[in-house]
Amino acid sequence: MEQEARFFARRQLEQADKQYLWHPFTQQQDWEAEAQLIIERAEGCYLIDIEGKRYLDGISSLWVNVHGHRRQEINQAIAAQLELVAHSTFLGLTHPSAIEFAQRLVRLAPGELTRVFYSDTGAAAMEIALKIAFQYWQQCASPQPRKTKFFSLHSAYHGDTVGAMSVGGIEIYQQVYHQLLFPIVQTPGAYCYRCHLHKSYPECHFACLDEVERIIATHAEELAAVVMEPLVQGLLVYLCILPGIHVPYGRLPNAIRYSLSSMKWRQALARRAECLPVNMRVSRQT
Ligand SMILES: Cc1ncc(COP(=O)(O)O)c(C=O)c1O
Repeated sequence: MEQEARFFARRQLEQADKQYLWHPFTQQQDWEAEAQLIIERAEGCYLIDIEGKRYLDGISSLWVNVHGHRRQEINQAIAAQLELVAHSTFLGLTHPSAIEFAQRLVRLAPGELTRVFYSDTGAAAMEIALKIAFQYWQQCASPQPRKTKFFSLHSAYHGDTVGAMSVGGIEIYQQVYHQLLFPIVQTPGAYCYRCHLHKSYPECHFACLDEVERIIATHAEELAAVVMEPLVQGLLVYLCILPGIHVPYGRLPNAIRYSLSSMKWRQALARRAECLPVNMRVSRQT
């Protein structure tokens, strides 16, 4: 009996979902034709659906749940904050948790990263980073007003707002919006699994990077920033930026050991371009 009630509850919810919602990157016709999983709760690494079935959350809720679901320390900290205040604007006001968190982040960040500007999503963080880099060159001690463009890699994904889409490189996400997007400087990165130069690592000595360096050097005077995913090129196929190996989905954590070289590479490119490395989404990749 209880099982039957659950089944009907599930059907009703599913129908309401299909009637009232749109899901990201989802073809509505396909979504409506298929049965959907409805997740009701979670425990550690597992999601549990409305019928009590457990699923290993293999994508960590799209890479943001790095500590597992319902960690008691995190839930308790959130509950304690809610008892104080749920939201207060940062425009003209500040508050203790935000100050403490910023201090801790700066202590963890590499030396030259000394300020925090909060945002609420990856795409918004990207928009902010683009604006900060752009504004820097307009207003720094020796302004360089020609530095208004951004460099990024083919197959990149940086979010779904207009600025973040502009610096992305996945055609299927961009094709409808081309007229909205601003022009950027872009070239393929290191992708040894399907090398666009048809070479093999390590004999290639990263010939693909020569091209990247050449393009950046050519455009250095107009580049405001280099935009690059720090460890792997995320959404499309999980490409490791360096040493350029393809990381199979299930083995993503292996990519972490390459982080240092990819960070160095990104900073070296930025130095070459005499522009700012725009660092984003580090938390998404770890
Ligand atoms: C590398 C990278 N940057 C930016 C984003 C956008 O983040 P959000 O979905 O929080 O806007 C994503 C999201 O998948 C991402 O993988």
